Amino acid sequence: MSNECVEVVLPGVVEPEGLQVNRKELPVPGPGQVRVRVEATGVSFAEQQMRRGRYYDQPPFPFVPGYDLVGVVETTGRRVAALTKVGAWASHVVLDEADLVDVPEGVDPIEAETVVVNGITAWQMLHRAAKAKQGQTILVHGANGGVGSVLTRLAKAEGIHVIGTASPRHHEAIRKLGVTPIDYRDDVPRKVRELAPEGVDAVFDHIGGRSVVDSWRLLRKGGALVAYGSAATKEDTGAKALPVLKIVARTLLWNALPNGRTATFYNIWAKKFKAKHNEDLKAVLARLASGHIDATVAEVFPLEQAAAALRLAEERTTAGKIVLKP
Ligand SMILES: NC(=O)c1ccc[n+]([C@@H]2O[C@H](COP(=O)([O-])OP(=O)(O)OC[C@H]3O[C@@H](n4cnc5c(N)ncnc54)[C@H](OP(=O)(O)O)[C@@H]3O)[C@@H](O)[C@H]2O)c1
Repeated sequence: MSNECVEVVLPGVVEPEGLQVNRKELPVPGPGQVRVRVEATGVSFAEQQMRRGRYYDQPPFPFVPGYDLVGVVETTGRRVAALTKVGAWASHVVLDEADLVDVPEGVDPIEAETVVVNGITAWQMLHRAAKAKQGQTILVHGANGGVGSVLTRLAKAEGIHVIGTASPRHHEAIRKLGVTPIDYRDDVPRKVRELAPEGVDAVFDHIGGRSVVDSWRLLRKGGALVAYGSAATKEDTGAKALPVLKIVARTLLWNALPNGRTATFYNIWAKKFKAKHNEDLKAVLARLASGHIDATVAEVFPLEQAAAALRLAEERTTAGKIVLKP
């Protein structure tokens, strides 16, 4: 066993190629902690924001990014999954034992990795925020993305109809999942109205800006808007929390209107959602193990090629999760 820990460091505001590979001594667990040998970690949209210094609560530079991981507890051999927000782009990570969820027997670590942050996010938005039900129709923006693809699979497995926006290159793939695709560059509200004249039961919007207003207007009576990101403002300058604060302000206003619809800004770290991370991750992993949902792996890179993996994510040509393997 090597005594070395390999990690990928984000040194400051850099292009993906500015990521650095660092070697250090293995980290030592404290009380209540264990050391996990990482088998898979992933590239999330958050790292695209972090490398620009635009993620709303990222740590000061330099730091090791990596939102989630799957790995093996060195002392027991237990295969686990964990949400880390940062720090997972490493060969070994020390974690609190209370934050670990068992990966069911027979589930491949790379496949499990696709449903850690993406699975928790998708599950909580679908079941806890929107409370979507069988027979309903929902609009999923970015149905090809990491979160979007898991959300789509979970919804279809529940008998929910999905209209999904994506670039045309992904339409065939999402059609195969039973999704009705719309090109996100088209007149999306008009296209959705053609498919659902009364509006939809829920919209999941990670785009922000103008899109979130359109999303709200597309809801039928009793419908739920779940806003959860601001991808459209990734390149903006100015206060990094402002685009999200604007969405939150809108949701507060919309909820105050007597209109029978609800709006939520979903934040995975909000207390009520954080309290359910382990339970909900367990539920999604169980569905992966039983074959209710499949994993969408876009591509697998060695950890040391994190720069190429992040560059690929930013090219916006992939569907599903880009995975890093130490
Ligand atoms: N609120 C929370 O707690 C929470 C938790 C997890 C994730 N998120 C958010 O969820 C979103 C998806 O994350 P992910 O990790 O799944 O990302 P991902 O795998 O990189 O997928 C990104 C998706 O967004 C689309 N997209 C990228 N840039 C866009 C832009 N400028 N305008 C509109 N669409 C754009 C992509 O479509 P194309 O491929 O067609 O370009 C793709 O479908 C991000 O906005 C992230 O911040 C929020």
